[in-house]
Amino acid sequence: MNFPAGFRWGVATSAYQIEGAAALDGRGPSIWDTFAAVPGAVANGDTGDVAADHYHRWAEDVRLLVDLGVDAYRFSVSWSRILPEGRGRVEQRGLDFYRRLVDTLRDNGIEPFVTLYHWDLPQALEDRGGWRVRDTALRFADYSAIVHDALADVVSKWTTLNEPYCSSVVGYAEGRHAPGAREGHGALAAAHHLLVGHGLAVEAMRANGVPGQEFGIVLNQSPTVPVSDSPADVAAATRQDVLLRRQFTDPLFGGTYPEEMTAMYGELTDFSFRHDGDLAVIGQPLDYVGLNYYYRLHVADAPHREPDPAKRTAHDIGVDTTRLPDVPRTGMGWPVEPVGITTALSDLSARHPQLPPIYVTENGCVYPDTEDLQDTDRIAFLEGHIAAALAAGVDLRGYFCWSLLDNFEWAHGYKHRFGLVHVDYATQQRTPRASFHWYRDFVARARG
Ligand code: FCB
Repeated sequence: MNFPAGFRWGVATSAYQIEGAAALDGRGPSIWDTFAAVPGAVANGDTGDVAADHYHRWAEDVRLLVDLGVDAYRFSVSWSRILPEGRGRVEQRGLDFYRRLVDTLRDNGIEPFVTLYHWDLPQALEDRGGWRVRDTALRFADYSAIVHDALADVVSKWTTLNEPYCSSVVGYAEGRHAPGAREGHGALAAAHHLLVGHGLAVEAMRANGVPGQEFGIVLNQSPTVPVSDSPADVAAATRQDVLLRRQFTDPLFGGTYPEEMTAMYGELTDFSFRHDGDLAVIGQPLDYVGLNYYYRLHVADAPHREPDPAKRTAHDIGVDTTRLPDVPRTGMGWPVEPVGITTALSDLSARHPQLPPIYVTENGCVYPDTEDLQDTDRIAFLEGHIAAALAAGVDLRGYFCWSLLDNFEWAHGYKHRFGLVHVDYATQQRTPRASFHWYRDFVARARG
């Protein structure tokens, strides 16, 4: 495989999934602390209270990155470590933690790719309406400017949001993620306010006036495939695509919302949360876009779950996504289809000719462990997907494997393990899997 000069190789993590130390050094609660405490919300009653204890073991984790030979590390900042109430008082100990981390990364020649929001909204802001209300977008811009101001001398890659689809639709419509809401209008408003927050945050960070800074956003891009060529299934796949991809990519890169949304949401269609001027804020030029890919969605037409349109949640759009093709599955049941990363990349790039350069910011999988941690399935998965990403022929600048370490996999808790490094949660001992050694050798060869 031939990679362009300067291609970045990395791994990714996120704050709530690895840090633990949930109440240390002044950190305030986030919606994930609250949600994980709700009986039945997370498998096995797991929480991020301790997670992979990265807050204490970060230096050991940086050594793992050095051993792995990556030149980039994508991680997220916990908003409620910096602003325990989401706004107002700044907690210096939170900023100091990330300063130590990025300084050590830099000392080792690893470039930090900072994500400002990986789903962990401060609970105090959720109590004031969360992403349903515009004020949260303004508070996100304030918080972003504070972190940027503190770290821009050593960080130049800034991602505002990770997967706003999940923060809005999975969190406020499906209720599978924090804050566990099941809403129609609220979830659509959340999606819009996340995008406004993204735009305002980029403006605020650019206003800090630091040269050489790059700003982007990370989007999950599951391509949708109709299960048949019947007009009903094709239309269902379009609705799914609007909900998951185009609700975000059209305003970000095309200056407009998909017109299909009006028909899709029937009596939910009160888009008064969209204000004049918002699209200009959302659609300002970016320096890169991050694409996360795990699987394709196979979509069939289906009845709405809730017959009354006024009571429907935003993801109840008359689709069935459970009819999977006869292909291998990962340990989470996700279909393994490397061609999906090719089309995810080429769709995005073809749809938006002015698209900035792309990074694959997450890609990875879960398989049951063998005793000797010889995860050959994961190696095959990664190798196949890296090749398929390259085959898209787009302006791809880097690849980040999800994840460095086993971690808190949201509503699944600790059961599903995505790490190149195995974590024994009883002792916090880290043990590299075979895929760790494979990735190290692969990256070394790719650099030539
Ligand atoms: C993505 C999330 C990431 C991780 C992977 C498996 O949607 O961004 O935090 O949980 O899925």
